[in-house]
Amino acid sequence: MTIKTKFTSALGIQHPILLAPMGNVAGGKLVASVSNSGGLGMLGVGYGDHAWLKNELEIIKHTTNKPWGVGFITWSLTEEVFDLVMHYSPNAVMMSFGDMSPWVEKIKAHNIPLICQVQSLAEAIEVKEKGADFIVTQGSEAGGHGKSERSTLSLTEEVIHHLPNTSIIAAGGIADGKSLAAVLSLGAHGASIGSRFYASTESLANDKLKQKMLESSGNDTLRTDVFDIVREIPWPKEYSGRAIKNVFTSRWHGKGDELTRQLDQHQDRFFSDQQSNNLESAIIWAGECIDSINAIHDAKVIIDNMVTDTGAIFNNNNSNLS
Ligand SMILES: Cc1cc2nc3c(=O)[nH]c(=O)nc-3n(C[C@H](O)[C@H](O)[C@H](O)COP(=O)(O)O)c2cc1C
Repeated sequence: MTIKTKFTSALGIQHPILLAPMGNVAGGKLVASVSNSGGLGMLGVGYGDHAWLKNELEIIKHTTNKPWGVGFITWSLTEEVFDLVMHYSPNAVMMSFGDMSPWVEKIKAHNIPLICQVQSLAEAIEVKEKGADFIVTQGSEAGGHGKSERSTLSLTEEVIHHLPNTSIIAAGGIADGKSLAAVLSLGAHGASIGSRFYASTESLANDKLKQKMLESSGNDTLRTDVFDIVREIPWPKEYSGRAIKNVFTSRWHGKGDELTRQLDQHQDRFFSDQQSNNLESAIIWAGECIDSINAIHDAKVIIDNMVTDTGAIFNNNNSNLS
């Protein structure tokens, strides 16, 4: 089954599926597996740890010859990290969270598509004017960081309506063939998928945390800034991240100022809990779609199942419609 869109044709890939660039989760192995299975693997550059990046980029270099890309967190990107990553010649670059203007020319000089992740129509129009080739519309149900107050379907439809000649990729809440079919039906040219690939064999997430994701539902997630406050990661104020609730979020969510004042009392314990994957405070970025994630699979199985189910829906083979 092949689902062709402007996105698959432009990138030379088989399926309209983009691995969301999840920092510390979407490493070389997962990127290569997604790309080798016909999607577009995207390395999550995260906050730019050099040793980690070099290792993961080497894995990609040696395990796939299919198109792959990288995703930068724009506000935290440095020239050094940019140069290190571009040295490996990715086939696409995604910029998320912040003003990508200073990077546009540098990316265009590599002659590869620039993909920008946005959370509103105003931002979509802005990045289009600044040179984005593809726009990812991220809804508030997405796992990980964002600042959307809009859900994926309505935001995506609005952006498609206003930018009819731009290829739009939807992000947030897409974890199976049904949700992929839904965004393609709206007119999106692809889907950026995070949480579903978190629970893949190849993801770098710890097994205990993957298991916790399988057992949790969308109701068990919240958007919060407490994990950034305790780690002292200077995200701009408008951003929060959707993660699975735990004892730490119950104690601190909504009490960021108090946590900031007491950081020295809580950081050591927090960081040692992360080392031991203690579920009372472990960070598990996850979207509302985790209701439909019930098993850990290889990326290839995830992609094949999605594409088969989407194809069945488009071929009118959906029991709901009969
Ligand atoms: C574990 C995790 C880590 C993420 N890290 C990043 C990141 O480093 N950079 C980024 O642009 N987006 C990141 N995201 C957000 C994704 O790009 C994407 O918007 C989101 O995963 C889509 O929603 P879904 O999780 O429902 O598929 C992350 C998401 C998750 C679940």
